[in-house]
Amino acid sequence: MSLTSSVKMAQSSILLMNLLLLSFQIVLLRAATPYPYSNQQQQQPLKLQHTQQSSALSASKRYEGSSDLIHLRYHMGPVLSSPINLYLIWYGRGWSPSSQAPIRDFLLSLSDPRSPSPSVSQWWSTVTLYSDQTLSNVTRTFTIAREAHIRNTSLSRGDSLTRLSVQQVIADSVGSRSIPVDHRHGVYLVLTSREVRVQEFCRAVCGFHYFTFPSIVGHTLPYAWVGDSGAQCPDVCAYPFAVPAYMAGSGLKAMRPPNADVGVDGMVSVIAHELAELATNPLVNAWYAGEDPTAPTEIGDLCEGVYGSGGGGGYTGEVARDGGGRRFNVNGRNGRRFLVQWVWSPVIRACRGPNAID
Ligand SMILES: *[C@@H]1O[C@H](CO)[C@@H](O)[C@H](O)[C@H]1NC(C)=O
Ligand SMILES: *[C@@H]1O[C@H](CO)[C@@H](O)[C@H](O)[C@H]1NC(C)=O
Repeated sequence: MSLTSSVKMAQSSILLMNLLLLSFQIVLLRAATPYPYSNQQQQQPLKLQHTQQSSALSASKRYEGSSDLIHLRYHMGPVLSSPINLYLIWYGRGWSPSSQAPIRDFLLSLSDPRSPSPSVSQWWSTVTLYSDQTLSNVTRTFTIAREAHIRNTSLSRGDSLTRLSVQQVIADSVGSRSIPVDHRHGVYLVLTSREVRVQEFCRAVCGFHYFTFPSIVGHTLPYAWVGDSGAQCPDVCAYPFAVPAYMAGSGLKAMRPPNADVGVDGMVSVIAHELAELATNPLVNAWYAGEDPTAPTEIGDLCEGVYGSGGGGGYTGEVARDGGGRRFNVNGRNGRRFLVQWVWSPVIRACRGPNAID
C-alpha cells in the first residue's frame, strides 16, 4: 500500500472487487483474512461473512490466492534492479540494540544464501521474478549502507509524525549528512519505535512506501516507513502475534513471535511487504493491479495474512514451530527465524513463499 490518503479509496474499490469475486464464487484473500494494512472496522463484516465459504473453497484452490481474475499489470516504469543500499533511520527513544537486531538480521538475510532452507533469500527470490521494460529483474543484493539514530525526537519532528513529516525526517538526515543522497542504489527506511505516533498508523496503515518529493528532500528517493505497533495496536499491525478482539471468538490464538518481541516481529513482515512492493513499484508506475494508480494493489497487498500453504480465510497457512512453540516460516542469518507474509508470484499467478508444500 503506498498512499495513506488513498487507502479509503482502495478499500471501497476492494469491497467492490470482493463482491464481484464472490459472485464468481472465488474469494480474494483480503476479503477473509485479517487486514493489517487498513481499517479493520470497514472490513470486518465482509470478513466474518466469508470465513466459512473461503475455507470450503480453499481446499479446491491449487495455490493460495490463485485467481484468474487478478490482473497484476506492468505499467512501463522501472523496478529496483541495481543492488540496493539500505539507509536506516531509527526514529524514537524506544529503540534498543535488542529490538534493532532482528530487523537488521532480517534485512541482511535478504541476500544471504547461506541460511538454511526455507530462507529469507528464497522468499525474496519470488520478488526477483519481476522485471521492467529494460529486461532488468529486481535485484538480489542488499546491504545496510548507513544508519542514523534520532533518539530525542523533540530535536527532530516530534513524537507524532504526519506522512509529510516522515519525508522531513529523511530530509533532516540527508541535510545533516548523517546519511547520504544515493540516487543509484539508495532505499530509505524510516523505522519508528513503539511510542511514536504516525498519521493513520493503526487505523489505516502499518507501513507505507513512496518516493520523496524534491520540494522536501531535494531529490526523488524511494522510501518506506514502518512502525513498531507493539504498544499501540499489535492486533492490527502485528497479526498473527496478536489477534483482533472480534476474531477471538473464532478460536484463533495469537502465535508466539520467533524473536520474542510482538511489535518487532510484526514489523519484520510489514518491512518485507513494503520492500517487495517498493522494489517492484518504486515510482508507483511499474507492477500493480487495479485501474487506479492512486490506489494500487501491489504484490504484497495481494497476499496479506498468508504465511504458508493453505493460508487464507483467517488462517495463516502451514508454518513451522520451534522447540519453544515460536512460529516461523523462514530462516535468516545468525540462526534467526522470521514469520513473513507471502508475495504474489507472476509465474504461478498466486501467492508464494519458500515454505510452500507442493
Ligand atoms: C526475470 O524476470 C522474468 C519476467 O519478467 C522472469 O521470467 C525471469 O525468470 C526472471 N529471471 C530471474 C533470473 O529471476
Ligand atoms: C531533548 O531535546 C530537548 C530540546 O532541546 C531538551 O529540552 C530535552 O532535555 C532533550 N531530552 C533528552 C532526554 O535529552
